[in-house]
Amino acid sequence: MKLTSNLQGLLAASFSVLILAFSNLVHAEDYPTKPVTIVVPFSAGGPTDAVARLLSVPMTKFMGQTVIVENTVGAGGTIAANRVAKSPKDGHLVLFHHIGISTAPALYSKLPYDTLNDFEYIGQVVNAPMTLIGRPNLPANNFKELLVYIQKNKDKVTLANAGPGAVSQLCGMLFTSQLGIPLTQIPYKGTGPAITDVLGGQVDLLCDQTTNTLQHIRANKVKLYGTTTLKRLSSLPDVPTLSEQGLKGFQVVAWHGMYVSKGTPAPITEKINAALKFALADADVKARLAELNVEIAPPEDVTPAGLKRQVESEIKKWGPIIKAAGAFID
Ligand code: MLT
Repeated sequence: MKLTSNLQGLLAASFSVLILAFSNLVHAEDYPTKPVTIVVPFSAGGPTDAVARLLSVPMTKFMGQTVIVENTVGAGGTIAANRVAKSPKDGHLVLFHHIGISTAPALYSKLPYDTLNDFEYIGQVVNAPMTLIGRPNLPANNFKELLVYIQKNKDKVTLANAGPGAVSQLCGMLFTSQLGIPLTQIPYKGTGPAITDVLGGQVDLLCDQTTNTLQHIRANKVKLYGTTTLKRLSSLPDVPTLSEQGLKGFQVVAWHGMYVSKGTPAPITEKINAALKFALADADVKARLAELNVEIAPPEDVTPAGLKRQVESEIKKWGPIIKAAGAFID
């Protein structure tokens, strides 16, 4: 008798699991059933926001539902990542984050989410190189002069960034630690507002993605001191890298990826991945990214496995560097 009621319980439980799996699949087939929101961890008008908005146009076409961009700023991108990690598993909230997702585990001792286990990985998106720029009226006209200027004005030189966990902060941290001179850091909610203050002369220096800086470099509105890649940029062939100018091996590239909450059904994650691939193949998107010297990730990386591989290897790479620099937040 007892055995029979146990068996009945087991059958009822299995049946509910099957019903739940079936209803998830039915929902997955209908996806998206409402507008899809891309969550950007930094301010509107910045480089992450710019790429998300560019992609949202062809993604809307592919999805048959509006893809909107929302900026959930603060704590170096971890508030946005936590928002998506804790969201319903229905693919309507998509995180668009950069390298900061893999530096946060070393910077923050208590993240409210688990980077490797709380997300479904959609795919890598783009790789953006960075540039070290200065306010237009900064007396130093090149990197050599900048080093002399910093030596003479150590206590008053300011370096803008988008907060701990931002790639601008990572780049600035590497720059100051290689120089061996700690500069005053001025944090913003994104490099959109930070570059406005560089242009206005309120802050001295900023390390930021070409997505944000190239237009001002081309218009001669900022001073340019070098690029953060090992090779010179095709858009700035005459500009030496920081590595060439003495900061040996200096390299920071802002790679980006897309994520949804863990447990989102495969048909939904596959559709988001297909929408992303569709957007990256769009002629206008390709032309705009090329203009900004932003590279589209190779096809094998625009995959869940490609992104997971990248996040894992970047966590391993940056953890010891951040620890050595002693740059903890809490
Ligand atoms: C932004 O979009 O504002 C930047 O990516 C922030 C950063 O420097 O990480």
